[in-house]
Amino acid sequence: MDDYDRREFLSLSLPGFLGVLTALPALCALATRANAAGGRLPEHGAMHWDAFLEAVTKEAAKQHLDAWNQDTYVKSIASLASRLHLEDPALTKAMEQISIRLKQGKVDFKYLEDRVDFSLCLVQFDQGEIIRPHDHPGMTGMILCASGEIETTNFDPVELENVKAAQGHQLLKRVGQGVLRENEISTLTAKARNIHTLHARKVTQLVDIFTPPYNKERIEQSNWFELSPDPVDGHPDLYEAKPT
Ligand SMILES: [Fe+2]
Repeated sequence: MDDYDRREFLSLSLPGFLGVLTALPALCALATRANAAGGRLPEHGAMHWDAFLEAVTKEAAKQHLDAWNQDTYVKSIASLASRLHLEDPALTKAMEQISIRLKQGKVDFKYLEDRVDFSLCLVQFDQGEIIRPHDHPGMTGMILCASGEIETTNFDPVELENVKAAQGHQLLKRVGQGVLRENEISTLTAKARNIHTLHARKVTQLVDIFTPPYNKERIEQSNWFELSPDPVDGHPDLYEAKPT
């Protein structure tokens, strides 16, 4: 298996990102599955891996409908993720493998599934590690904290008549801030909370589902931001941001 350093990946250099995409089939082939029959548990009961994947696949297919509602979708995915059995062998094995990588100082980013309609990734953070603000153009995201503790902050781009950003900057409004602990979830849609930043308080493992998944076009459209350290005077949730 090819190994990728998450720091390289998250720097979002286009060639590096494309390299990861090229290798996705190999990465995905390594995903292990729980027994599907064993995963069919009662409504609101814990879901094993294959049942979870099947349910997510069914929901993600709805994105092709004209009436697809992203807010409803991320709520549905979040509801499913809240039922995911975190002790499922498919997940614990992946978490153990990625934990070893962290100890080795290597890869701690791993695709568990990459479909046409969605991707499912396991991301592990070192304690204190920060992923700086970035967006997910045209995408929805669901983040389930599988272990650890991580601060998340979400922003929306805004334009205001009475506040102008400095040259080369834009205004981002903080629309969500919190701490994710085990089993807790954060979501974003193409139009709401789409920009986020993460700061791990502890070694943390997240399960991410992005719908639709990254592709070449969405990677090229992705933006990363450098936020001003302090909010705009008189606007405690408003920040100037410089695309980087
Ligand atoms: Fe992100």
